Amino acid sequence: MKALILSGGKGTRLRPLTYTGAKQLVPVANKPVLWYGIEAIVAAGITDIGIIISPETGEEVRTKTGNGDRFGANITYILQEQAAGLAHAVKTAQPFLGDSAFVMYLGDNLIPDPLHDFANVFKERSLDALILLRAVSDPTAFGVAQVDGAGRVLKLVEKPKNPPSNLALVGIYFFSAAVHEAIARIQPSARGELEITDAIQDLIDHQRSIEARQLQGWWLDTGKKDDLLEANRILLDTRLTKVVNGIVDDRSQVLGRVQIGEGTRIINSTIRGPVAIGANCHIENSFIGPYSSIADNVILREVDLEHSMLLQGAKVEGIHQRIVDSVIGQRAKLTEAPSRPKALRFMIGDDSHVELV
Ligand code: DAU
Repeated sequence: MKALILSGGKGTRLRPLTYTGAKQLVPVANKPVLWYGIEAIVAAGITDIGIIISPETGEEVRTKTGNGDRFGANITYILQEQAAGLAHAVKTAQPFLGDSAFVMYLGDNLIPDPLHDFANVFKERSLDALILLRAVSDPTAFGVAQVDGAGRVLKLVEKPKNPPSNLALVGIYFFSAAVHEAIARIQPSARGELEITDAIQDLIDHQRSIEARQLQGWWLDTGKKDDLLEANRILLDTRLTKVVNGIVDDRSQVLGRVQIGEGTRIINSTIRGPVAIGANCHIENSFIGPYSSIADNVILREVDLEHSMLLQGAKVEGIHQRIVDSVIGQRAKLTEAPSRPKALRFMIGDDSHVELV
């Protein structure tokens, strides 16, 4: 079995972070979202992995992720010239996939369940498609499934205004080579994309063997800021172990599960876990509260923050109110006004979002 991870697309809902980088590389608990997917696939024993990339962010994904050695996998990058839909991505990857069965994994999705259980169901029951469903409160933002009492999938619709159920399609699918024939038969949707949902519907219409399994645990699609913070919270809660490699001075307190990278200095500060701090950060006279991730090379002075994410190279100094529920992008600066008149001064990128008291 092979794997196809989709790491192309435009990432419009995560702007401005995605103006300068791929949404799948945004770090959650200090690790790119995409890498959790790769690790889950390798843990299921699948090591032949194709990654769909876009012309805009593909080089960054490729340079950062590499040839797969670090994951014990063999990664092939596949350029999709246009974000023309999930089924279009599969079509583009057909030379890589050949007639192999494969797991298709959307690079911004995360689930805690091990994939090998689903892979086994897929193989043992000789299915053409195994889809995963999760009950959600607002199904209109997803593909939605209508199932009968026995759990059989009757119908799938992409982002319906009037959802037939509350069961959303999770972005992890198992397919046999039959999906390629289905994709060859479907037409672009109203939003101009070749939808994988339509391809699965086509398999249903052609009486191919399709089953669904419902997820009970969490499922995250890191499409928006709040999803990102929630993914960060859950991963810090469930996956973080205490490792302190940096230097913590004797006026500082490090409480609970806290990770501190090499070369980081903590001076006269309190860190209350779960918190992940990367390498070569400087943290002074500050409080970092639970569910925060601080990437490499971040500078924090005179700051109180919690439940927030600071990306690489960010600098926050002299902010006299607690910062919460925030995502601060790479190299962004948030500092105290250096001169009179005392006033707020901004230089904020396109599509940024700032809330003041
Ligand atoms: O997250 C689950 C949902 O994912 C499903 O419920 C929907 O049925 C499915 O269509 C998909 O919806 P999204 O609107 O969330 O898909 P998005 O455009 O965010 O793309 C998902 C991933 O695939 C993302 O990592 C970008 C990548 N992608 C997307 C497109 C459209 C590609 O690599 N190529 C593409 O052409």
